[in-house]
Amino acid sequence: METAHELFLHELGDMLDAERKLVEALGKQAEESSRPELKKAFQSHQAQTEKQVERLQQVFDDLGEQPEEAECKGIKGLIEEHDAFQEENPSEDILDIFNVGAAVKVERYEISAYEGLIRLAQLMKHTKAAKLLNQNLKEEQQTAKKMESFEKKLKPEKMGMGEEEDETSGRRQSRGTSRGRSRRAA
Ligand SMILES: [Fe+2]
Repeated sequence: METAHELFLHELGDMLDAERKLVEALGKQAEESSRPELKKAFQSHQAQTEKQVERLQQVFDDLGEQPEEAECKGIKGLIEEHDAFQEENPSEDILDIFNVGAAVKVERYEISAYEGLIRLAQLMKHTKAAKLLNQNLKEEQQTAKKMESFEKKLKPEKMGMGEEEDETSGRRQSRGTSRGRSRRAA
């Protein structure tokens, strides 16, 4: 690979795969949410994400290109983090808190990816592509804000200080390794 155009198509294909994976993941997160306002937020971003998939397909169409087979390993990793966390048997309350944090990570990843794509599109004078990508970026930024406000607002029911500390610190260690993985993936 040598050209910006090829890089652009590669990154675009990556995001197409990412958004498709996220349509499914957001549906799962909505189902899991015990707090109605959080469920609604995941549902509404799932609907937005379906449109984002269409916009990315539109960018390919406008360029007269076909999406190549690509897998977004970054988002795949973040989704795997979620699935691995399920094995920790989280309470509904704690799963909500986890899902909000996971959503913030995903949105920040997507924001970076779209910013990079838009830069490339602008350099190559793909004005329409840049516009479509910018619509996706704006939605991710709004969602990131919404999820960050949940992060500030939601409080876990149990703090687990004191005698539960020994039990949780054991778990925390095993989670520490998976958190390291997520940092690399993001
Ligand atoms: Fe998205």
